[in-house]
Amino acid sequence: MIPNEDAFKQYFSDTDHALLMEQLRTDQIPRHIAIVMDGNGRWAKARGESRSFGHAAGVEALREVITAAVRLGVGALTVYAFSTENWNRPQEEVDLLMSLFATTLIKELPLLMRENVRLVYLGDMEALPIETKETFEQGLSETNNNTGMVLAVAVNYGSRAEILRAVRQISDLCCEGKLSSSEITADMFSRYLYTAEIGDPDLLIRTSGEKRLSNFLLWQCAYTEFYFDEVLWPDFNRWNLIQAILTFQHRERRFGGVKDGLSE
Ligand code: IPE
Ligand code: IPE
Ligand code: MG
Repeated sequence: MIPNEDAFKQYFSDTDHALLMEQLRTDQIPRHIAIVMDGNGRWAKARGESRSFGHAAGVEALREVITAAVRLGVGALTVYAFSTENWNRPQEEVDLLMSLFATTLIKELPLLMRENVRLVYLGDMEALPIETKETFEQGLSETNNNTGMVLAVAVNYGSRAEILRAVRQISDLCCEGKLSSSEITADMFSRYLYTAEIGDPDLLIRTSGEKRLSNFLLWQCAYTEFYFDEVLWPDFNRWNLIQAILTFQHRERRFGGVKDGLSE
């Protein structure tokens, strides 16, 4: 349910979007939403600006979506900020992104504290520049006791690397004789992934019209509902989020079973 009904009504009151809010079932908000925040570069290009301008605008969109997700009572919000393949971008852009992550996190820590958000990191932190790594570590420790929404930030994250890491850890246990291969189940395997504590997303949103996972949550998306929005990430706002959730609420999740009432 919505944590604070007054704050909720105030935040989502907008005559232009009243119809959207009328349709929303606030008791059926997806527990875990994952977002591939894509399109910053195209957004900047369309304005004759540099890609870094687009990334900075993307931060504003993320701030809005975090606040909206908290108001909606989302349990976990996972955002894809930098993939293992994004190291292949021009060095200048990689450097810019790494420093943007650090400065943004420092700047937005008060917001995370105010909204009772707990930060979780998905990916390999070791390869990050030291300042970026230390900032994430600070964010993790400062928000550690927060009890509200979990914000999982995927930086230097790649699903294949994540799966291989789990395979290596589990096979080490087998080689040491601490585990037998028959004990390896899907539940157990999931506990070796970066997402161990947040589980699988119910809804995955990708902006900018691209329709692919780009190495994001391959294992975890086995039964996730996908929503693709043409909007470029810097333009994505609370109403786009509501629209995605509304679409999700009209889907029928079957998990390989049969539709209610059709089983006879
Ligand atoms: C997503 O926007 C942000 C990151 C990958 C860091 P892009 O930078 O991929 O933007 P486009 O896809 O080039 O428009
Ligand atoms: C995926 O977007 C990664 C993030 C949004 C962080 P990309 O822009 O890197 O993906 P591709 O290259 O279009 O598949
Ligand atoms: Mg992109």
